Amino acid sequence: MDFNVKIGDSDKLSSACVVVGISAPRRLSPAAERLDKASRGQLREMLKHHDIDTGCGKTTLIHSPKGRIQADRILVVGCGKDRTLSPQSFARINAAAARALQDSGATEALSYLTELDVEDRDLRWKAQQLIVSSRDAVYRFDELKSDAKPPKRPLRRLAVGLSDGDSADEVRQGIASGKAIANGVDLARTLGNRPGNLCTPSDLAEQARALKKEHPSLKVQVLEEKDMQKLGMGALLSVSRGSRQPAKLIVMQYNGSSSENPVVLVGKGVTFDSGGISIKPGAAMDEMKFDMCGAASVFGTLSAVAELGLPINLVGIVPATENLPDGDASKPGDVVTSMSGQTIEILNTDAEGRLILCDALTYADKFDPDVVVDIATLTGACVVALGHHATGLLSNDQDLADELLTAGQVSGDRAWQLPLWDEYDELLATNFADMANIGGRGAGTITAACFLGRFTKDYRWAHLDIAGVAWWSGAPKKGATGRPVPLLMQFLIDRCEER
Ligand code: BES
Ligand code: MN
Ligand code: ZN
Repeated sequence: MDFNVKIGDSDKLSSACVVVGISAPRRLSPAAERLDKASRGQLREMLKHHDIDTGCGKTTLIHSPKGRIQADRILVVGCGKDRTLSPQSFARINAAAARALQDSGATEALSYLTELDVEDRDLRWKAQQLIVSSRDAVYRFDELKSDAKPPKRPLRRLAVGLSDGDSADEVRQGIASGKAIANGVDLARTLGNRPGNLCTPSDLAEQARALKKEHPSLKVQVLEEKDMQKLGMGALLSVSRGSRQPAKLIVMQYNGSSSENPVVLVGKGVTFDSGGISIKPGAAMDEMKFDMCGAASVFGTLSAVAELGLPINLVGIVPATENLPDGDASKPGDVVTSMSGQTIEILNTDAEGRLILCDALTYADKFDPDVVVDIATLTGACVVALGHHATGLLSNDQDLADELLTAGQVSGDRAWQLPLWDEYDELLATNFADMANIGGRGAGTITAACFLGRFTKDYRWAHLDIAGVAWWSGAPKKGATGRPVPLLMQFLIDRCEER
């Protein structure tokens, strides 16, 4: 789907479908007002007869509108009761519009939804969000369906309508960042949705090389198990030894600035998590193919940053492995030595994410990072604590935590902070090594982060636990969400603009 700007009034510009918002009970947006006038009151007439649903995200399609209207159709999107929309409602309204357009038969359309008022948001943000929500709504994963039926008349072009040209540049900027973010989200979703047999650690390494082809500005390096051995990555290797697929440590570098220390993103890339010897129950175990969604978000973010050419330095590190039971797999009670030299007693082989991340986090130090952010589907406890709406955020630096929280607020891809106190860290004590890989029964998300915190003492670091937000379970929405690519992109864009 392509996006552009068109300048002119809603009744005057021609298109296959013009999209406008109406709030409850009968508040017409300026573009809707013009259409109403030009159609001799058709919209108000329909509202009077309850033929238009003004509930937030409800859509009404009007074919062959009356009067002198240049568009073939009008799509009215309900905006609910509030005079000023929340960013979440704005996203929902745009997604609903895109879905309705996709079903309408119009292959191009003209949307005036950026004229709606959104709390504390400017036009550039609204244009960006329009793109991200529309693309999100029409995403499909059908590469593995033998009879995939793409929409007969897909929406190919969506124009953002502006009644005057003064703000066209703001909208163009929003469109550019919106497209890049949407492409990044799509990539993260597609990698996440691929099954474990087609998305192995080697496939992810291949994906990194493909990304480099697409964006020659990227540098890609893949470390093999023998390289990890040399580096002393005993924790990472202890997970992959239970699998026939070799582990890969994928390093992607983007250099957009000559001077800055890089932001390093570390993404958990467990391409399938069976739990290992501490095997998981069978129900919904298929969803553990999504255990590489942290890695997928690193791919998505790097690709979006390269597409936008942001003036920053960024490194993506993806430790990729399967976690399977095998005669050679790690056993509960095994003690391994991490790259940092610290020893770890593996009390539960299902707490594998932290084992691969701790070595990747130690490795990250070699890039002399400004900050390090890891992204991981790390704990079921995070789903219990925050459900499916907020990413769990823990950090050893409050300024960094605040930057990420703000980026979450702005993008609508929100995070919520949990404490990283010493009292929780003490729960990792064991008689047999420097630490155990699990804490007690409580606060599973926090003890997991405390574990990682023991490997991130030399730099500013934040941990994003995306176990609840990386995918939707159950029909019909089941599939990867691409979160937290929007949060990470906002974080990186904001850093560029602060300087
Ligand atoms: N990948 C899982 C976490 C997970 C579980 C994410 C369910 C989303 C939904 C992780 O590797 C894991 O198994 N964690 C264990 C840790 C426990 C053994 C301390 C968990 O959360 O049960
Ligand atoms: Mn696990
Ligand atoms: Zn896992």
